[in-house]
Formats: sequence, structure tokens, C-alpha cells
Amino acid sequence: MTTSRLSRVHARFDQIGFQAWVERDPRHSGSQMLSELSPRSYDYIFRMLKQAAGVDDTTLCDLGAGCGRALAHAVASGAFVRATGVEIVQKRVDVGLKALADLRLAHAATLEQGDFCSSEYAIDAPCVLCYDLVFELEVVRLLATKLNAGANRAMVSFKSPQRWEAAGLTGFSLVHTGRVDSTSDPPERFTFFVYTLARG
Ligand SMILES: C[S@@+](CC[C@H](N)C(=O)[O-])C[C@H]1O[C@@H](n2cnc3c(N)ncnc32)[C@H](O)[C@@H]1O
Repeated sequence: MTTSRLSRVHARFDQIGFQAWVERDPRHSGSQMLSELSPRSYDYIFRMLKQAAGVDDTTLCDLGAGCGRALAHAVASGAFVRATGVEIVQKRVDVGLKALADLRLAHAATLEQGDFCSSEYAIDAPCVLCYDLVFELEVVRLLATKLNAGANRAMVSFKSPQRWEAAGLTGFSLVHTGRVDSTSDPPERFTFFVYTLARG
């Protein structure tokens, strides 16, 4: 996929601005301000995630998908054939679905409203993105319980192995640690972790 195609994707999500972030995530008591990741950060994260999963073309699941920027990048860049996301705030889902349709990516990237901690939601992909910088401990605990009961997978998270261990995640190995940057000026730098989860 060309750089100009990806530039158009990110320009479309930049248009959304803060309008979609005003509505509160009911599971989060702190600031709703979000640092969005740069395009090259997504490229790096997805390359490491696929390497950890040992797969080439596959499906990405974004837990807490916001307006779907990561989903759009995942399929528009060709890193993933399909991308599915779940987002708790309806407004983010609404504007995200519109952006995916405008970009003609809706056939490959889907976004649904829901709570990934709930028993109705099933994680159905071998590669999981969890941009969880602001997730509170209770959310991480609930997610750990769900991941413990799930299948083998690779996961990108911004929480350290110590944080996941404290939350009760079992059977995981750290396979890569990297640094990415946000789109803000000046950029913020974040550390991400790639894990494999071995089950059964
Ligand atoms: C950092 S933002 C998402 C960014 C997105 N993954 C991306 O890279 O473009 C985290 C999102 O997680 C959502 N979230 C938090 N807890 C959730 C839950 N239990 N179920 C679904 N979404 C949740 C928040 O509403 C927020 O939009």
C-alpha cells in the first residue's frame, strides 16, 4: 500500500479531532485525553505482533478501538487482511464507522460497540492490540481473566509484565519491548510490550 494512501487514512482520522473523545468511557475515571500513535508506530507494532504470532496475513483484534484508526491502518497498510475492534463509547463507534466507510475500508475493518470485559464479548483473533495506557487496574484484571480462558495468541500492550502479573495474567512470555511515538508536537514516547500467551 502506498504512503499517500496511508496519509489519506490518517488525515481522515485527524479530522475527527477531539469531538469523539469528549464523551466519557464509563470504565475510566481519569482524563480522557488521548495520545494517538504515529503511522510508523503502527507499522512497527504490527510487524512485531505478527512476528510474535508466527503468522503472515491474518486478523487483528483491537480491544478498546477508539474511532478505529489502528484498524484502518492495519488493513490499509496490508499488515492484516481483516481487523475487528470493540469500543465501549458509542459516539466513537459512530464516527469511526463513518470514517471507515468514507475510506472504503469497511469490508475489511469492522468496529462494534461493546465492553471487552463482558461475558458476551469473545476475542476471536490470533493477534491482539491493547492500547491500554489509561486502562485502570480493574479493567486489566477482568481482561486478564478473559485472556486466561482464551486461546493461544500474541498481544501488544503498553502495560509491563509486572502489571499483567499483578492483574492475574498467566502463561505469558515477553518476546519484544519497543518504543513508539505519538502524533503530538512534541511527540510523546511510549514503551510497548509484545507477549505471547500460551494456553492449554
Ligand atoms: C487509547 S484509546 C484507543 C485507541 C485505538 N486502539 C487506536 O490505536 O486507534 C482506548 C479506548 O479503549 C476504550 N475502552 C476502555 N475500556 C473499554 C472496555 N472495557 N471495552 C471497550 N472499550 C474500552 C476507551 O473508550 C478508549 O476509546
